[in-house]
Amino acid sequence: MDKLRIEGERPLHGDVQISGAKNAALPLMAASLLTDQPVVLLNAPELMDVRTLSQLLTGMGMQVDRGEERIRLQADRITVCEAPYERVKTMRASVLVLGPLVARFGHARVSLPGGCAIGARPVDQHIKGLQLMGAQVQVEHGDIVASVPRGRLKGARISTDMITVTGTENLMMAAALAEGETVIENAAQEPEVADLAAMLVKMGARIEGAGSSRIRIQGVERLRGAEHVTVPDRIEAGTFLCAAVATRGDVTLRRCVPEHLDALLDKLREAGARITTGANWVRVQADAMPGGRARAVSVRTSEYPGFPTDMQAQFMAVNCLAMGAAHLTETIFENRFMHVQELVRLGANIAIEGNTCVVQGVERLSGATVMATDLRASAGLVIAGLAAEGTTVIERIYHLDRGYAGMEHKLAALGARIARVS
Ligand code: EPU
Repeated sequence: MDKLRIEGERPLHGDVQISGAKNAALPLMAASLLTDQPVVLLNAPELMDVRTLSQLLTGMGMQVDRGEERIRLQADRITVCEAPYERVKTMRASVLVLGPLVARFGHARVSLPGGCAIGARPVDQHIKGLQLMGAQVQVEHGDIVASVPRGRLKGARISTDMITVTGTENLMMAAALAEGETVIENAAQEPEVADLAAMLVKMGARIEGAGSSRIRIQGVERLRGAEHVTVPDRIEAGTFLCAAVATRGDVTLRRCVPEHLDALLDKLREAGARITTGANWVRVQADAMPGGRARAVSVRTSEYPGFPTDMQAQFMAVNCLAMGAAHLTETIFENRFMHVQELVRLGANIAIEGNTCVVQGVERLSGATVMATDLRASAGLVIAGLAAEGTTVIERIYHLDRGYAGMEHKLAALGARIARVS
């Protein structure tokens, strides 16, 4: 199993190009099931999760051709409408095939995702929405088994009990081919939802309001192929910003969307970093922060446009070395503090109180061997390792490979001493 070895305490300097978003690419790929014509994704990130979904789709009969940052998908010969447990257990986002399969083929069998490292993560809202659209859905032998007795889903008004990102995406894709109007209330407003809607519209879907809490979809009978550029990854971007601040460096992100980073940028300014932005770039200067260190800054995670739960671990790493104490409250997932014990191994001072971590900044972290437990936790450990004195070894780095494209190469180009060891 691969590990990362980092020699820390080297400020990051230079430019880094941000890849397409994992959490946009996955629903965009699933959306290709909605048409028999080719869908071409550009700026597609080179990630393990993208490969896992490619394999799942290929297993259904989809033609998937991958080039550099480009994927062509064509679902003109789908033979199996199933997502087996072997795939779903490695990547919960596999559940995104459920809506498109039910909408286009009238049936689907998708393994019910189990709990995962960060929480229970049920998919009851995905199921409830499809039932409101007329699907019959049961759980049989651990699989979600869905069918549409009347042949075509019917538009419905769906108000989800909580804001769910992939739930909104699944239902929006299903509604695109349903008969009549669907209104999704309490919809997720994440940029990845809006990006999916933008591609669906190119495919001929009639969708209004994506990116707000109410999405209106007028179903159409068929969708066509499209070419689409995946939105930049705001979480990858945020991870590099936090790495720059933790190492007191000066980094410019290229090919990103600054407004998607607003909540984080505000917090980094509060911490003492100087932030400048242009149309598609962000520069963070943390090499001359007042007092020579970041100030502790508290956050509470919430749905977009709030502070993302996917940035909580990385922002915690910044706070580990800050002046003062910060409260980091996690409101989206019930078990997303697995990185805390590992950060403590690096010398951080963190106490967990319910869903809040109290981080008392220390002057120095010291390198150690730590274990990655999930994707964003791994990113938090990488940042802490970059800032710590001495050598940090991060084990189980496959978690990082799921969602970051060539992270160690990008960090090395910014001056980090980082190497992958098998
Ligand atoms: N929830 C339910 N029932 C549902 C759906 C969600 O109870 O039917 C709960 C979840 O358990 C959670 C909350 O609602 O407590 C929000 O979950 P959501 O459905 O929004 O999460 P998701 O769609 O499964 C996506 C991202 C996650 C990201 C979350 C929150 C993708 C592929 N995944 O997950 O990304 O953390 O939204 O923003 O888009 C990551 O990239 O590391 C990652 C975990």
